[in-house]
Amino acid sequence: MAPTTEHPVTMYYPHDLHRRHGDLCCEQVLVARIAKAVGTPVYIYSYKTLVEHVRRLRAAFGAHAPLICFSVKANGNLAILRLVVQQGAGLDIVSGGELYKAQQAGCPASRIVFASVGKRPDEIRHALTAGIFCFNVESAPELAAINDIARRMRTTARVALRINPDVDAHTHTYITTGVAETKFGIDRVTAITLLRRHADYPGIRFIGLHVHIGSQISDSAPFVKAIRRVAEVLEQGRAVGVPLEWLNLGGGLGIIYKDERPQTPQAFAAAVLPLIRQLQVRLILEPGRFIIGNAGLLVTELLYIKQARGKRFAVVDAGMNDLIRPALYGAYHEVMPVTAPVTGWHRAGVYDVVGPVCESADVLARRRSLGVMEPGVLLAILGAGAYGSTMTSNYNGRLRPAEVLVRGRRWAVIRQRETLKDLIRHDVIPRSLIR
Ligand code: LLP
Repeated sequence: MAPTTEHPVTMYYPHDLHRRHGDLCCEQVLVARIAKAVGTPVYIYSYKTLVEHVRRLRAAFGAHAPLICFSVKANGNLAILRLVVQQGAGLDIVSGGELYKAQQAGCPASRIVFASVGKRPDEIRHALTAGIFCFNVESAPELAAINDIARRMRTTARVALRINPDVDAHTHTYITTGVAETKFGIDRVTAITLLRRHADYPGIRFIGLHVHIGSQISDSAPFVKAIRRVAEVLEQGRAVGVPLEWLNLGGGLGIIYKDERPQTPQAFAAAVLPLIRQLQVRLILEPGRFIIGNAGLLVTELLYIKQARGKRFAVVDAGMNDLIRPALYGAYHEVMPVTAPVTGWHRAGVYDVVGPVCESADVLARRRSLGVMEPGVLLAILGAGAYGSTMTSNYNGRLRPAEVLVRGRRWAVIRQRETLKDLIRHDVIPRSLIR
C-alpha cells in the first residue's frame, strides 16, 4: 500500500474537524486543548456531526421517516445515547446490559428493539418488564423460550423474526452476517413454518421481520436483494393471517475511512423506498457506524520514535486495547498530527504507528506520512467514534481512555479516564484458598 500523502483533514469526510492556523479543531475547540486538560489517550466526539447524521438519514426518507434505532454496540456512552434519544431516535440493544444503559439514558421503551442470538431468560424477563418495542428473534428455540416466559408473566411479547436472507454484503468476513453459514437469523423456510404455526405461540405477537446483512456496506444493492428475499416470508405470513406491519432493515450503512464511496442516505432511501411502499411496511433502521463513526476521534501522544530494520515506528500511548479495529479487522483509520508539523506534512517520515501493548498485532496504522515528529506531539486517529470505545479493554493493565463531547465552543468529559483502582475493583483474593 502506498503511504498516505493527502493533506490531513480531507474534504470528503462528513465531519466537523478542520484546521485553524494548522491546528486541529473539533467544532470550535482546539483538540490539543482538550488533550492537555484531560490527558491522552482520549476519545473526542462532535455533537454537531452526530446530530447531522441522524438528521440526514431521516431527511432522506421524507414522509416515510423510519424509526431510527441507534445501535448501542457502536457507542454505548450514556451521554451519546441521551443525545441520540433526544433527536427522537430509539436504540437497538443486544443484551440486558445495553437495556440497562438504554433505560439510564432515558430511552422510551417503545423505541427499543432487542437482537442477539443468545438472549438469556433473565434478559428476556427484564425486557418484557420494561415493555420494549420488540424482540428480534434469531431461532425457533428462542421464540419458544420468549413465548414461555411471556406466558408465565401473563403478557405478550412483540416479535420480529430475524431472517437470514443469504445475501452477501461484500464486506469484511467478521462483519458479514447475512449469509447462510453465519449464526445469525432464521432461514426463510423455517420462518414461514413458524408463522404458519403462530397459534402455537399465544405469548407472542408477531409484528414484522428483521434483517441485518452486515456492517460497513457501501452499496445499496445487497439491501435491495435482502428485502426481495424477505418479501416472500412477509407475504406468506400475511397469507396465514399474521399482520406483519414492520420491516427492520438493520444497520450496516458504510462510512468513509479512507477512499470508500459509500451510498449516500438519499441513494439508500431511493433504492429501498419503492420496495417498502410496495410491501406496505413501516421501516426500522438500526444504524450505528453511520451515526457516530465519523463523529469521533482518538487522540494519542507520541512517546518514542524507534527505528528497526529500516522501518520507523511511532510508538504512541494508545494501543489495540483502546482501538482494536486495525488489529482485529485490518481496518484503516486516518492518522494525522494534531498540530501542523513545522517542517510541512510530506517531508521525511513514513511511520508505522504502534501502541505499547505486548502483541505484534498492536499496530494502529501502517506506512503513514506524518512529517518530522518529536516525542510529545499529539496524533489524531479519525473515524474512531463507532466500535472504538465500546471495544476497549484493560488488557496489559491499561486504563480505558477518557471521553469528551464537544458542542460548538464548549466541551465536557462524558467518561472519566479509568483509575488504577478500577483495574482491581472486581478481583477477590479468597482467604479460604490463599493465605
Ligand atoms: N443491527 C444489528 C443486528 C447488528 O448486528 C449491527 C452491528 C448493527 C445493527 C449496527 O451496524 P452498523 O450500522 O454499525 O454497521 N465491530 C465491527 C462492527 C460489528 C458490527 C456488528 N453488528 C467494526 O468495528 O467494524
